Amino acid sequence: MASSQTFTTLFIFCLVSLSYAASGPPKLPKPKAIHLPIRKNQTSLQYYTTFESGNAEEPNIIDALIDLGSRSVWFDCASYVSSSFKRASCGSNKCKKAKGSSCIECNKTPRPGCPKKDTCAVLTYVPYLVYYTDQVLGEDTMRVYSTDGAYVWFSYYIKNFQFSCALTIESLPGDHAKGLAGFANDDISFPSQISSSLKLAKKFALCLPSSSDSGLGDIFIGGGPYYMLPSIEDQSLSLVTTPLVVNPIGTNPFFAEGEPSLEYFINVKHIEISGKRLALNSSLLSIDKNGVGGTKITTMQPYTSLEMSIYKRLLEDFVKEASLKKIKRVKSVAPFEACFDSKTVPNTITGPAVPNIDLVLEGSNVRMRLYGANSMVEAKKNVICLAFINGGFESTTSIVLGGHQLENYILEFDLTSSKLGLSSSLLVFNTSCSHSRVY
Ligand SMILES: *[C@@H]1O[C@H](CO)[C@@H](O)[C@H](O)[C@H]1NC(C)=O
Ligand SMILES: *[C@@H]1O[C@H](CO)[C@@H](O)[C@H](O)[C@H]1NC(C)=O
Ligand SMILES: *[C@@H]1O[C@H](CO)[C@@H](O)[C@H](O)[C@H]1NC(C)=O
Repeated sequence: MASSQTFTTLFIFCLVSLSYAASGPPKLPKPKAIHLPIRKNQTSLQYYTTFESGNAEEPNIIDALIDLGSRSVWFDCASYVSSSFKRASCGSNKCKKAKGSSCIECNKTPRPGCPKKDTCAVLTYVPYLVYYTDQVLGEDTMRVYSTDGAYVWFSYYIKNFQFSCALTIESLPGDHAKGLAGFANDDISFPSQISSSLKLAKKFALCLPSSSDSGLGDIFIGGGPYYMLPSIEDQSLSLVTTPLVVNPIGTNPFFAEGEPSLEYFINVKHIEISGKRLALNSSLLSIDKNGVGGTKITTMQPYTSLEMSIYKRLLEDFVKEASLKKIKRVKSVAPFEACFDSKTVPNTITGPAVPNIDLVLEGSNVRMRLYGANSMVEAKKNVICLAFINGGFESTTSIVLGGHQLENYILEFDLTSSKLGLSSSLLVFNTSCSHSRVY
């Protein structure tokens, strides 16, 4: 409830600032960065954002899952009402640019998702159902809000925001989110369209909340500063960076031959527990010529999965280090294997005081330190478990970093320099990714 109130307040605030702006000059300043909220569904463990699309007086409120691995934006248009929606016609330049696959027509009453004829259809990948659908390509006006890194300020309209309409889509995981916002490195992705329309830097940052009950997470488009109140530090100044790596081969089951993966990969050089290096088969940590191996980042998977031999090593060494700290192991709670009595673990601002897991990344002294809040999950009362999943023996990607491990960090994807900027866990600063940014 708190989150929908926040959104309503934000909405009213922006209506006020808009009507002020509409009464004539002064003109709104050019935005330096755009902010969108992130909510987490505690049942499906998925992260989604919310934006407005369509007529300014009566916008459609769209909830869309955040997917770092998809190139475009789509949502269910079944209840979408807008007089400003424009479909892309078959064979148009926009259609070609979006890799239009066919022409589509619909015999029911025409509406945004059901065009009369000669409309561009795009094949859209639905990651959580692992299939493609033919969707109507179109565009409409989207409203976004500027930020100074601490609060949201003015609303701006992006004309010609391109997306595709799902005609009938099997229900998404979660009633609320009926769409998907792709953040992959592509011209038609969610952040790229906003950046190019408002002439912002080609970078975006995510701050995934562990819960959105008391405050929402952040998408910043265009760069910092990033303020995580009550901490007064500008987190953009202390990010460490590691190169984003291109996997030459697509990793979704239907990748187009000869096209590199659109997903974001990084190089994990090795892993340490309590400062001790795990003995891993290092060839699993790099991407081979068939696109197998390496590490990618995903917001679509709630927990990190590890190739079987890496998983076993991590589990064994973690259990050993935990027993040195007199942490009592208890019966496992599926799907997790290493579970502990939380009464034997002191609590700290960074979560339960378990051995730290460090992912040592490419770059000079770049590491992602996972404290208890990110390495453990409370599986039931008084039981915390190591929150990693066995990815099996023949996993395509050896390490798939998932949501729980990414929460309460700032992850900045700079598409110009091809670098990932990473903050320390915000919990160290006694703050998090959950905020109200309404002034
Ligand atoms: C969260 O996910 C659950 C399970 O998928 C769904 O039933 C519920 O409606 C979702 N809640 C919201 C607010 O989206
Ligand atoms: C290390 O992993 C590679 C890639 O899966 C495999 O070909 C090789 O046999 C492994 N080496 C050892 C010593 O297990
Ligand atoms: C962290 O912040 C909370 C309030 O948000 C405060 O009560 C607590 O004392 C702070 N802890 C530290 C170690 O600064």
